[in-house]
Amino acid sequence: MPLSKEPAWQYLIRDYHDLYQSGSAGGSAKIRAHMVEVRRVLGKVFEDDPPISQDTGGELPVCVHLERALSGATAFRTQKIAHSIRSVRPHLRWRYGYERVPRGLKLKYGFTEILGPEGSVVSDRIKLGLVLFAPSTTYPAHAHKGITESYINISGNVSENDTGVSAPGSLIINPPGHHHRITTADREPCLLAYAWTGDSGVLVDQKMSFSRK
Ligand SMILES: [Fe+2]
Repeated sequence: MPLSKEPAWQYLIRDYHDLYQSGSAGGSAKIRAHMVEVRRVLGKVFEDDPPISQDTGGELPVCVHLERALSGATAFRTQKIAHSIRSVRPHLRWRYGYERVPRGLKLKYGFTEILGPEGSVVSDRIKLGLVLFAPSTTYPAHAHKGITESYINISGNVSENDTGVSAPGSLIINPPGHHHRITTADREPCLLAYAWTGDSGVLVDQKMSFSRK
C-alpha cells in the first residue's frame, strides 16, 4: 500500500514536517539549514509516494513506558505528533539497532524507524524515527559518520554531553562525527523524534556502535 492510501502514516510524517517548520532555529544558520533540508526531503518523499512496509510490529521491554511518555507530550508543539504516534502504535517495530547492546540498556531503550530504508514507510532519502528511554537512563557516547542527526524532544527531559537540559519541544543537533552521550531525568521516560540527513548510500549503510572511552 502506498503512503497516499494510509492516512495515519501520512499524518505522522506531516507532523514531523511541521515540527521542523514551526520550531525556532535559535538563530543558528546551521540548524536552520538542517530544518530546511528535512522539509525539502520530506517534500520529495511525498512526491515519491513510497510503500508502507508489510512487516509486523514488535515491542521491546522499554515500551512499558511509551504510554506514559505520550501522556507527557503536553507541550503545544508535541501534542499532535503524540496523537499520531498512538494511531500507528500497533504497527511500530521497536529495535535496539546496535550490534551489541549494553546489558543495562536492554530494559531501558529502544528505537523505531518511521521512515527510512528499514522504516515502516520505506525510503532511502532520509531517516525519521523515535527513540524511547526509561527514566534514569544513560545512552553511551556514539557518533554518526556522514550523518547529520537532530532530535526533537517530544516528552521528558534529557541532557546531551552534560551541556544543558532539553525540555519538550526543544531541538538538539549532532553534526557528522560529533560524539554525544544522552542522560534522561529520574522520574519520567523520554521520547525523542529524530531525523537523519545524509547521502542515501550513507543512510543505508550506517552501522551503529558505541564509542569506547
Ligand atoms: Fe545519535
